Amino acid sequence: MVPAKKVRGPRLTIADIQAMKQRGECIAMLTAYDFPSATIADRAGLSILLVGDSLGMVVHGHATTLPVTVDDMARHAAAVVRGTRRALIVADLPFLSYATIEDAVRASARLMQEAGVGAVKLEGAGGAVPIVRRLVELGVPVMGHLGYTPQSTHQMGVRAQARSAKAACRLVEDALALEAAGAFAVVLELVPASLAKLVSQRLTIPTIGIGAGAGCDGQVQVWHDILGLGGRPPRHAKVYAHIGEAIEQALGAYAQDVRAGAFPTETESVSMDEGELAIVLARKAVADPCTS
Ligand code: KIV
Repeated sequence: MVPAKKVRGPRLTIADIQAMKQRGECIAMLTAYDFPSATIADRAGLSILLVGDSLGMVVHGHATTLPVTVDDMARHAAAVVRGTRRALIVADLPFLSYATIEDAVRASARLMQEAGVGAVKLEGAGGAVPIVRRLVELGVPVMGHLGYTPQSTHQMGVRAQARSAKAACRLVEDALALEAAGAFAVVLELVPASLAKLVSQRLTIPTIGIGAGAGCDGQVQVWHDILGLGGRPPRHAKVYAHIGEAIEQALGAYAQDVRAGAFPTETESVSMDEGELAIVLARKAVADPCTS
């Protein structure tokens, strides 16, 4: 069980996150998908927790993020909100849930009103820009996401983006368009470090990099990748602990104890007063059930 929280201060706001860029303070962001992991991440001092639609892959075992629904997001996001006090909680709008402004408003309403998140994230620019503008007008804080955008994986393939001058100029324009539309921050995924640094200098809103080098205003990683909880982590991830191995060892020890009769012991068992037990045993049906 996760111990009681000792997180200090009120929940971080969009303004707090933007002030971090102004102060030159790097923004630490991580994905979280459930109550216990969110509680731990909040206690560890992460500024933003992203309920990413990557949950479709790392939690639900799908090959892509595409099967994730607004229902999935709302359920996971609510658990993350309940587990936190300090971090700003951002939830992804899943694939095709923001195809129109009406869809985007409906999905954002569920994530903000039902789950209680502080902001939503959506992928791409172009047609998404007017959607960002409308959501922001309605009071929904929006984080953009450019570069490799996993919801377009069938079009892009999992590879670095914006490596040619033409594609790089397009990315800069897209980032500026998202900023102009009112996005409060932009994730840059799998783009060259030099380009991400340039975008970070051009924008007044924070950039959050994943596989985009050290020149961004913040960094985001996937929970399972940095904790050794999945298969081989992507190149951009640093594994800070091998939790998967630790869990496997612990579970192996538990299974061995159960098989060997070494668990549970008296310590893990509930005792009964001898006198009460004697009364039970005195009942013929209990003492000798076959004769009853
Ligand atoms: O869904 C997710 O985890 C993300 C991050 C990779 C930024 O969008």
